[in-house]
Amino acid sequence: MTRASFLLGYRTMLIEFDCSVQLSNVVKQAATSCEEFNDEFDPQIRTADPRFGDFQANGVLPFAKKAGLNPRELSEKLLKSIPLSDYWNTSLAGPGFINFKLSEKYFFEWAKKFSDKQSIRSAIKEKKSKKVVFDFSSPNTAKQMHVGHIRSTIIGESLSRLFDFFGHQVIRDNHLGDWGTQFGILLLSIKKLGVSLEDLGADPIAKLEELYRQGNQLVKDNESNLDEARTELVKLQNGDSENLTLWEKIKEISMDSFLKIYDLLDVKFDFSLGESFYRDKVDEIYAKLLSFKICKEDDGALVVFHPEHKRFAKQPFIIRKSDGASNYATTDLATVQYRFEKWNAEEIIYVTDGRQRDHFDQLFLTVKKWYSAEDISPPKLFHVWFGTILGDDNKAIKTRDGQPIKLIDLLKEAIERAKLLIVEKNPSLDCSEVEKRAKIIGLGAVKYADLSQDRTLDYVFSWDKMLAMQGNTAPYLQYAVARINSIFRKAQSQPEDSFNIFQTSLSESERNLFRKLIFFPVVLKQTVKELKPHFLCTYLYELSTDFSSFYNQNKVMVENEKIRSNRLLLCSQTILFLKTGMAILGIETLQEM
Ligand code: ARG
Repeated sequence: MTRASFLLGYRTMLIEFDCSVQLSNVVKQAATSCEEFNDEFDPQIRTADPRFGDFQANGVLPFAKKAGLNPRELSEKLLKSIPLSDYWNTSLAGPGFINFKLSEKYFFEWAKKFSDKQSIRSAIKEKKSKKVVFDFSSPNTAKQMHVGHIRSTIIGESLSRLFDFFGHQVIRDNHLGDWGTQFGILLLSIKKLGVSLEDLGADPIAKLEELYRQGNQLVKDNESNLDEARTELVKLQNGDSENLTLWEKIKEISMDSFLKIYDLLDVKFDFSLGESFYRDKVDEIYAKLLSFKICKEDDGALVVFHPEHKRFAKQPFIIRKSDGASNYATTDLATVQYRFEKWNAEEIIYVTDGRQRDHFDQLFLTVKKWYSAEDISPPKLFHVWFGTILGDDNKAIKTRDGQPIKLIDLLKEAIERAKLLIVEKNPSLDCSEVEKRAKIIGLGAVKYADLSQDRTLDYVFSWDKMLAMQGNTAPYLQYAVARINSIFRKAQSQPEDSFNIFQTSLSESERNLFRKLIFFPVVLKQTVKELKPHFLCTYLYELSTDFSSFYNQNKVMVENEKIRSNRLLLCSQTILFLKTGMAILGIETLQEM
């Protein structure tokens, strides 16, 4: 054995969390001892057709073609330099692919090494933990949250949890829309109708919405009311104490209604600094952008154009309206500065509807120019946008009478529907247990239905689909977890117990399950890279399906102690990954279902 291959043989003893990276290194290393290869050679490790192997190196083909060499011969030569290993067998296929079939030893050792949450976390952790601000949910005050708000809340929360899992420092900030023009109309309505905010009845937020509607009507009916509404808004913005007190009360009522929803969804914010928080910080922004010549006056307004951009060369980013008022763009600029200076944010991730893409593109371009004028590198900004939830008619989902669906009603309905299903299946179940399970199943179903879709697509909301026990649904995953819990009850042991590992040969379905398990950390990495929770969902679904075929084909509690112990290990790792993944998605699991 040469020194290089001796070292390599030694190195392959260490099992990495990502087998494809490890194999890629092995192949690259082998290529250094064949003169035909150079640094440009990329082994291109991909998963293989399971009939031939577990992984495949595809890179020889394009490399040989480019170099004018025979790919099959080159692969043969390369294959000879790949040292023998206990962890995989190699073979040559087709015009020059190299197949790797992982050995039992590899799988068992991998399982042993990544058998708890902590080992996965340390394996995937980036060298340096980042400070990341998540800006999500962010409803407008004085209105109820409606079904549209669920996406930002749930996607934002699950990505925050994922970043937490990766060891980053996460700050969750609810950027409330609490300083908008809606307050002029609302204040007008409150005053004209002589309403006391202390006495709004059982559903104060609904009453506020009604007052807003009535205010709109007043404005429509009479031109002078519109002027009055404007005056009320200006008074508020100039710090009139009566209006400020009313505004604060409105915010409190709104926050109470939001908190009920956040409680149900198990979402907590570190801060809820709304737009109003930045109202005294905007003058500084105008001054800076003017001095850097990034914005200019246009008909009394302050605007930013981006000449290098196809559309934003002409489409202005208005940062101060012609009446002198600040707006959504101004407060967002001030917010970036605040998060950067006060919190040392290295990244800011905004989770909103796709219709705000232009706003964020313009914001990001403006921030880039502003900070480069100051010779500072700004935090990295990301817009995590999502599509619309559709009704049966393929249009944005609405109630029968065309109103937006209140989020609280939707969540309550989810719980009620889950309750019916549980009682139907289990009529003798104790009431409090029914309540508990209904919350976990109902809310889990709604969350998962959202998270399991590529967020950039619209999706059709369907109660039947999301609550189904079959298919890519939360109940299906929860059922897999409950099933494994029952296996451990029968075995009178715990999934966390450590299992002796014996090298036995693996059946096809055991092998298949192992093949899926080793991808868990890789999928977490991919999900964080793409900021798309559906990658994790799809994986968890496939893992449950593979578990199910494993379980249907292999009895776990067999006499043979070695086989039993190995199978319990597979169950233990499956439940660990399912529960860890689901916790990242914000979905709870059950002992029994
Ligand atoms: N309040 C806004 C809305 O309801 C979302 C705010 C998103 N965050 C931000 N920094 N602009 O559409």
